[in-house]
Amino acid sequence: MSRLIVVSNRVAVPGTSSAGGLAVALQAALEETGGIWFGWSGRIDPDDSGQVHEHDAGNIRYITVDLSKRDHDDYYNGFANRTLWPLLHFRVDLVDYSRITYAAYRRVNALFAEKLAPLLRDDDIVWIHDYHMIPMAKLLRELGVTARLGFFLHVPMPSSDLLAALPQHERLFEGLSSYDLIGFQTERDLERFQDYVRLFGRGRVISHGILETRKGKRLRAGAFPISIDTAQIEEQARAAAAKVGVKRLATSLSGRELAIGVDRLDYSKGLPERFRSFGRFLKRHPEHRGKLTFLQIAPVSRGEVLEYQKLRSELEQLSGHINGAHAEPDWTPVRYVNRNYPHPTLTGFYRLSRVGLVTPLRDGMNLVAKEYVAAQDPKNPGVLVLSTFAGAARELDGALLVNPYDMDGVADAIAAAMEMPLEERRDRWETMMAVLRENDITAWRRKYLAALREPI
Ligand code: F6P
Repeated sequence: MSRLIVVSNRVAVPGTSSAGGLAVALQAALEETGGIWFGWSGRIDPDDSGQVHEHDAGNIRYITVDLSKRDHDDYYNGFANRTLWPLLHFRVDLVDYSRITYAAYRRVNALFAEKLAPLLRDDDIVWIHDYHMIPMAKLLRELGVTARLGFFLHVPMPSSDLLAALPQHERLFEGLSSYDLIGFQTERDLERFQDYVRLFGRGRVISHGILETRKGKRLRAGAFPISIDTAQIEEQARAAAAKVGVKRLATSLSGRELAIGVDRLDYSKGLPERFRSFGRFLKRHPEHRGKLTFLQIAPVSRGEVLEYQKLRSELEQLSGHINGAHAEPDWTPVRYVNRNYPHPTLTGFYRLSRVGLVTPLRDGMNLVAKEYVAAQDPKNPGVLVLSTFAGAARELDGALLVNPYDMDGVADAIAAAMEMPLEERRDRWETMMAVLRENDITAWRRKYLAALREPI
């Protein structure tokens, strides 16, 4: 079997970073075939980019590259997170337009390509991840790489009219045609991409998922909804009840129900809207006051970017405001926490929660939604309140689907979750679990890699 080469901005080198859902998935994929995981080292060198680090563990070689302060500022904080991130999450109003950061994005991609190309063999399968790395295939091809190259976009694909706001959109998206397979989270993302190809790429959609560029090159595109290790999360959540942190949380509730949200502190997650919705819930449904505590875990993310700093202050204000208005001497309605918790502990928190609040304004998939479901106690499952704008809503239709902008609607969904009879909760949970058992993380990567291996 050919080697797998995974390329992503973040690399989970053992012992250096906490492994999120994606990291676990890619790690397991690499273990199956052996190979290389390549990307940014997470280190910032004050002067120069390009120092390479290697680390071997089992049959995986981790190869990572340092970035200079300037490249980190302009490529990661800049073009990736102040331009592409808001654009791909439909937030044209937040997009920063800068030729300087675009140049850095190209420069860092070229640096990565230059370090990676000599390590590749013709029969390797190269799987490149997410919006940080869009130009990689074109750059690798220019360096003579002939291996199969696949791309997976973890975030949403917006509509063509939004993408057209980016001055460099044609150059950037034309680069995608150097891949052999482009993967999206949902059919809707794929459709929007096909529209873009027709409208701006001047290419052809030969049949659903088979595209031809205006130069006559054929490539595949498909929807591959990412998932979780369903069986492992079930197991972790079952075992988590014994953990000190989980027991402490359970005791602290003093018999009240818990609603939980777990998100990176990011404006795409709809956190201010969620806080306000919870405030509305307390106003619109006074019968539930004092019976439900809302725990929002929101580790700080991309804290050097201004929008993220503003969001942080807004949430501090909002949580203070709601608590000021509704708290009792023995009850604080909102518990707002900026730290991260070990993954097994989180699964224990999910299992304790009567309501899972996953209400992003836009999200490629949202694995918290899937994990919340997999972590539930089958005998007494909680209710997922899920934004229709998360990719996960396409699969998890047993959730209470909400429009996160409609705060009265979200407030009413929280009330419905509190009032839902056990039988309905079980039915909804079983529907969702059936999907998660069938499309787990192993199925996801096998489907993607099989499609990438398939000749066109
Ligand atoms: O899942 C989307 C994603 O942007 C990943 O590519 C990224 O690694 C993750 O979210 C977290 O963001 P960051 O790497 O900027 O901390």
